[in-house]
Amino acid sequence: MEVLASGGNATDAAVATALALAVVHPVAGNLGGGGFAVVRMGETVAALDFRETAPSAAWREMYLDASGAPRPEASLVGGLAVGVPGSPGGYFELHRRFGRLPWEQVVAPAIRLAEGFTVTSRLASDLESEKALLARFAASARVWLPGGTPPRVGSTMRLPRLAAVLRAYAAEGPGAVTAGTRAEALVAAVRAHGGIMTVADVASYRPVWREPLRFRAFGWELAGMPLPSSGGIIMAQTLGLLERVGWARQPAGSVQRLHLLAESWRRAFADRFLLGDPASTRAATEHLLASAWLDRRAAEIDPNHASPSTMVRPWTPGPEEAPETTHLSVVDGEGNAVALTTTLNGSFGSGLLVPELEILLNNEMDDFATAPGRANQYGLVQGEANAVAPGRRMLSSMTPTLAWRGVEIVAIGSPGGSRIPTATTQVLLAVLVDGAPLEVAVAQPRIHHQWMPDEVLCEDGEASLQAALIRLGHRVQVRPRLGEVHAVRRRGNGSLEAGADPRGPGTAAVLPARLLESAGRPNPIPSRRSERLE
Ligand code: GLY
Repeated sequence: MEVLASGGNATDAAVATALALAVVHPVAGNLGGGGFAVVRMGETVAALDFRETAPSAAWREMYLDASGAPRPEASLVGGLAVGVPGSPGGYFELHRRFGRLPWEQVVAPAIRLAEGFTVTSRLASDLESEKALLARFAASARVWLPGGTPPRVGSTMRLPRLAAVLRAYAAEGPGAVTAGTRAEALVAAVRAHGGIMTVADVASYRPVWREPLRFRAFGWELAGMPLPSSGGIIMAQTLGLLERVGWARQPAGSVQRLHLLAESWRRAFADRFLLGDPASTRAATEHLLASAWLDRRAAEIDPNHASPSTMVRPWTPGPEEAPETTHLSVVDGEGNAVALTTTLNGSFGSGLLVPELEILLNNEMDDFATAPGRANQYGLVQGEANAVAPGRRMLSSMTPTLAWRGVEIVAIGSPGGSRIPTATTQVLLAVLVDGAPLEVAVAQPRIHHQWMPDEVLCEDGEASLQAALIRLGHRVQVRPRLGEVHAVRRRGNGSLEAGADPRGPGTAAVLPARLLESAGRPNPIPSRRSERLE
């Protein structure tokens, strides 16, 4: 909000927020991880991939033991779990192409926070939950568990080394982290804990601009993230199937709607089995989104009964087809929009902190099919296209998405691993199809299905519909929380609306016009969970 009030645009605000999260939200905000951003700036729609890559020495069986059995912890904890970080280059590149304010000004709030910020109850409880992980690494424990426990709620947390890194980053750009002594420190921390990353891996990492996944659904135009995230493809397939099976005609909140959602996701996630880095994917996006394929998939859906997942196979060429993450959304007064999702993968990533930099490192390597055909930490079963290979980007489910119709525009996304596309899609449907206000849409109870395991996850709030789903042939499991959506919208009359999910502590706010006019003034309005201001 401060950056917008200083005359910054949506990109400036998004990058500044991502960097602030790298300080105050170490569970997912990061400089040691990666992510994706979908942006619309003026007439330009673009997608930035700053996903981590496998180190150059990575190999297909690196997470299997001598007998070929998976070693799941190796891809989750410590040096071998760490992918080559994409965030330092990614945030810089996003700002270089679309930012308006000077780079130093965009990094400044994060520096200020690193010099001292107040510990929130969410931060203390996140640290408490992952105490055992952080305690395994002396440097991580020294910073985040001083005296063996999380810092007290309300106390001031100071990260002087991270502040120094950010100052160098503000002055020199990504090379301040990815080259020279800081890159050496990062690699030394990884290798001291069993990793294989090299300084050359870190220095040669580049973010990639990709063609955003553009499609239409329910009268709206959408832009989603293409591979190496599966999020955009899952969302586009799901909306395409729901249009075909008449989802919008079913009553809001009905079991029929939930059933059709579950059946659509069952099919979209089955196709996900074929996906991976754009260079290794075994199904092309255009095949998975071809009308003929969506027609065939829609025809398979029985409105009265669940199809067992074992009967739903991934896409195969047929005659008709010949040929714990964090998300932020920003819309500025000009209608520019950024949806940015960034992650360390698991909470606090690999648990490994680079002592000299106070940067936590990701465990994104677990997003590869570390043992193709077997489930990962999200229960996702993935295929050969996503096997570990040097330099390859691991398949993601992150779903930063923009949807617009005339002057209306929505920026949206969520954390939550495999639940990201399903949570984001449900909120988007409530807004695009049912016209729900954002704060209502983000709060509604949600469900999830991902093909394998063959079960519908329901939040507690959906209990009354569970029996009906079971009658339709679904297996049902209850989960307390599915995703944590964050969305901002400019409405047809130009007014702005922001919604943060009540499932988490995220906040959303609208900057009053009078503050936009007084550029340069710090933001005096308190952040609220959700706001709707004219
Ligand atoms: N690390 C979660 C995802 O990328 O889907």
